[in-house]
Amino acid sequence: MTRLAGVDLAVVYDSRGEATVEATVLLSTGAQGRAAAPSGRSAGSHEVRAFPEGGAEVAVRIFRDRLRPKLLGLDASLATVDQALVDADGRPDLANVGGNTATAISVATAIALAEEAHRPLWRQLARPGVDGTVFPTIVGNCLNGGRHAIGGPDIQEYLAIARDPRPERSIRAALRVHALVGAALHRRAPHAALGRGDEGGWVAAIGNVDAFEVLRAACEQAREELEIDVRPGVDFAANELLKDGRYRYREQSLDAAGQVRFVAELVDRFGLSFVEDPLAEEAFDDFADLTKAVGGKALVVGDDVYATDARRVRHGLERRSTNAVLIKVNQAGTLSRTLETVDLCRSNGLATVTSHRSGEVPDAWLAHVALATGAWGLKCGVLGGERVAKLNELLRLGRATFGA
Ligand code: PGA
Ligand code: ZN
Repeated sequence: MTRLAGVDLAVVYDSRGEATVEATVLLSTGAQGRAAAPSGRSAGSHEVRAFPEGGAEVAVRIFRDRLRPKLLGLDASLATVDQALVDADGRPDLANVGGNTATAISVATAIALAEEAHRPLWRQLARPGVDGTVFPTIVGNCLNGGRHAIGGPDIQEYLAIARDPRPERSIRAALRVHALVGAALHRRAPHAALGRGDEGGWVAAIGNVDAFEVLRAACEQAREELEIDVRPGVDFAANELLKDGRYRYREQSLDAAGQVRFVAELVDRFGLSFVEDPLAEEAFDDFADLTKAVGGKALVVGDDVYATDARRVRHGLERRSTNAVLIKVNQAGTLSRTLETVDLCRSNGLATVTSHRSGEVPDAWLAHVALATGAWGLKCGVLGGERVAKLNELLRLGRATFGA
């Protein structure tokens, strides 16, 4: 039986320059895996805690003192290691060892197991019926606002939704939209500085609705030039907008019914095909109202409302809250928990979108998670080395299917 012969954890930095953790796993056969965990900024309250009190340095100390002795010598299966991580913590939110510690060790274990089996990570994790030939739609961040930008719109993310069987085409289309959005913002204000936000999208002083117009025009132009299906999308991160029961924008404040109406109007007016977190994390019924209104023409995607938690997704299924679920491994804390949520979605016809975090690491494993889970989409930004790492990996996987 293959055993866990060595495991270590160390501090590394994410794309915001904040400390996170990276795990190294050694199996008794000599196979190794290494993975780092990202961190969110507009994190939902139902996610596992990324770090114990005190942050990444404390996480490493706790790992070395208390967690490592419980892991060494274990049967090296993903299920065994993930269960040991959860048991060692003792709390569902993993606040004792930290969700990022668990995520990094879980993913590093899967990478080591894939290496031992001489197969790519996606095949190691592949869900029933997934053969690795169906590639995800690219959900690319073109304009940043909210907590991912300083001086941008209130809405967090203006997205290009690029759909094509071949990843090199969908990635090219998302990158083209990003470039066209930048050029349009520069034309609107030629003397203003133009920066980029946490996820590599542009940051400009532009109104919430005007930004949709810029995005729509860029998608239309890219669609015509490249003949690739690329449409506008959005992540409201509405939890961050909600204060004292109202969704508050610079220009207006709306109650829940008003927010549902506003979002439905934007879907119609700008042809949005993807609407993430248009409502706050407890608003299962308001989500259902919106899905009823626009679910036939757009994906309504739940991020903070589900936090990649199978129990919360079950609740959403009962209420028909959304038709899609965002999947973030470190919201759940382990790959096993993540795959349980994915399997629940797959068997109930909910689309999944595998997602990065705003504070990312330059690892590429996320592309494999998307392919392995038959994800409808991969949301990983389009610019910045830590985002491009995932897209380039998807290109490599695409070449294995479609040739050079
Ligand atoms: P976060 O944001 O990584 O800062 O939580 C990403 C998102 O809301 O999708
Ligand atoms: Zn989100």
